[in-house]
Amino acid sequence: MVVAAVFLACFLQPGSAAADDEYDKPPISYSQTDAVNTVSRLVDGLKSGTSHLRFNPDFGYLPSLLDALQVPVSSQMLVFSKTSLQRHRISPQTPRALYFSDNVYVGYCQNGEVLEISAADPQLGAVFYTLSQQEAAAPQIVRQSDNCMICHASSQLKQVPGHLVRSVFVDRAGLPVLSAGSHRITQSSPLEDRWGGWYVTGTHGAQKHLGNLVLPGGQQQIVPRDVDNSAGMNLAVLGDRFDASAYLTGHSDIVALMVLEHQAEGHNLIARAGYVTRQALHYQEALNRELGEPAGHVWDSTRTRIKNAGDALVEYLLFSGEAPLTDRIEGTSGFAADFAKHGPRDSHGRSLRDFDLERRMFKHPCSYLVDSPCFQALPVEVLNHVLGRLREVLSGKDQSKPFAHLTSADRHAVLEILRETHPAWSL
Ligand code: HEC
Repeated sequence: MVVAAVFLACFLQPGSAAADDEYDKPPISYSQTDAVNTVSRLVDGLKSGTSHLRFNPDFGYLPSLLDALQVPVSSQMLVFSKTSLQRHRISPQTPRALYFSDNVYVGYCQNGEVLEISAADPQLGAVFYTLSQQEAAAPQIVRQSDNCMICHASSQLKQVPGHLVRSVFVDRAGLPVLSAGSHRITQSSPLEDRWGGWYVTGTHGAQKHLGNLVLPGGQQQIVPRDVDNSAGMNLAVLGDRFDASAYLTGHSDIVALMVLEHQAEGHNLIARAGYVTRQALHYQEALNRELGEPAGHVWDSTRTRIKNAGDALVEYLLFSGEAPLTDRIEGTSGFAADFAKHGPRDSHGRSLRDFDLERRMFKHPCSYLVDSPCFQALPVEVLNHVLGRLREVLSGKDQSKPFAHLTSADRHAVLEILRETHPAWSL
């Protein structure tokens, strides 16, 4: 099974990224370009002495780092598959904890050597950092453009450094049983495919998922098509599966998981739209030079590449193909309330961050990522295309199939919210 083999290679043989990676060539020059994002600003603050990180005897720099990056503790999610960097630290008894805000992700392992950090960078897409968990007089957050890329810029991410969410079947040791298959998870993944290798707290009615499931056998077991995971459904607490006191909280909130899955792929598609546009324009410039065309000559192939990347992003931002919900989803950690309280809101008090969680994730089906620095820093060529397409769909002019899930009331509400919160876009 080719997919499993690639997946296994990606997880089990970390090494250095090849020097001829597309993202390391101009115009992106990923490793050589200074990152400017929420984490790099903290790095600057630590250097100049305006920011500080305090060491905690139980959790090292984790609480202080989350605080400095304004990442809510309620976003905690616990993953117990040995699928990431510090996999020898990870098992069903010692899960890895992940936390996130709108533009930063943080990973923590019990007794881990480092905290793992990724930031959504407006120019570079996902940028990776580590912070040593050894107490130091001057703790340093170090950018990593090599060690992390074997998994975070793999062919599955089409060579654009990005964020990962997976669902796998896991044995008692936490090793993925790859012969049973695996899923890349986004907002479109059916719930029944999600959360293999993750703990999940929260209620979801009769909807099934693969969370909280540890297969009893070893690597050679045959995984039945309909796994009985009844003991893993609708859990408010995770009980004695692991020692919750070794974590900041005992939650692995179902709403946080769903927002992570929406956001991680959203960040990836924004980054891809930026990369593709800059690469297409760079290529066109060279071609024009070579063929003696005027500098501004636009090729159809350039237009098509930009259009395709932009169209994929528009569909995602408007939740085209989102997995429908058939029962109410409710978390346990307070994440939903923490998330929704950040604006912006329109004069009717509406925000793109308002949840539905009964039929679909959000009440107003346009992603809050349009408010993010990454989206707003997209090259103008693709940004204009995306805004133009948003205008066509939201005005009702485009009634094509990918947007058939949007009622005229949905379109109207989103348009009004965007008009009030983004007057400069003249939608
Ligand atoms: C062996 C593969 C692998 C390597 C190497 C790796 N990661 Fe990851 N990482 C993953 C997977 C898979 C996930 C998804 C969650 C999981 O399965 O634990 C992930 C998730 C993350 C997340 C959560 C959000 C996101 O961006 O996906 C952060 C933060 C992260 N990794 C940081 C790092 C950093 C920093 C490095 C390098 C120092 C690194 N990782 C190296 C596989 C890897």
